[in-house]
Amino acid sequence: MGIYQIAVDGPSGSGKSTLAKGVAKALGIMYLDTGAMYRTCGLAAIKKGIDPKDEDKVRSLMEEMNLEVKFIDGEQRMILDGEDVTGSIRTPQVSVAASDISAQPVVRTAMVDMQRTIAKEQSFVLDGRDIASNVLPDAKYKFYVTAKASTRAERRLKELNEKGDFSQNYEEVLRDIEYRDEQDMNREFAPLTQVPEAIVINTEDYTIEGTRDYLLSFIKEEN
Ligand code: DC
Repeated sequence: MGIYQIAVDGPSGSGKSTLAKGVAKALGIMYLDTGAMYRTCGLAAIKKGIDPKDEDKVRSLMEEMNLEVKFIDGEQRMILDGEDVTGSIRTPQVSVAASDISAQPVVRTAMVDMQRTIAKEQSFVLDGRDIASNVLPDAKYKFYVTAKASTRAERRLKELNEKGDFSQNYEEVLRDIEYRDEQDMNREFAPLTQVPEAIVINTEDYTIEGTRDYLLSFIKEEN
């Protein structure tokens, strides 16, 4: 069986990570959450008190910091300067910092290099914004996942509340989603892009399992 990649792009809260994870599990292949990498860069800026939009400071930060992606029992862990920060990158504050810092070319170049290196070693499902358009334009399968902003905000709020985070109400979550959409879609360097050949999946049309099975119906047996 050869190595192949499945690209799953889409906006914040579209359900792409749940989908990508489910698909990877069903196929017995690896899953790479590329957003977690930008989130770790955002967290690094917050920890150092650096404005994620300050180009010069972010350049020095990228030179100094040590970011590692590890897979422990098949699960992705984010290591920042030797510390496992996987549990600290899902806060609203980190979400906004990740969106801001991911617009910087110096950050994207470094993350994309790592993503390509990781994905060539074995079969992977990758989720992100620019996987099909930039990271892996030759990926065997390309999907674009969508849902209305209001639905995405409801899901994000539920996710935060389930983790015991009640720091934001619905309006604030929606405002963050709209802020990130605007930035992630309109930044100059590798914005969120729907490539023409991508299969579009609206996650409002199905249940979680239904969405996964719909995507899987496009994947041919690799053996
Ligand atoms: O998927 P996510 O919400 O965890 O991503 C966090 C931020 O990282 C998002 O606002 C945009 C950025 N990102 C990106 O620019 N490119 C990717 N491939 C993945 C995420």
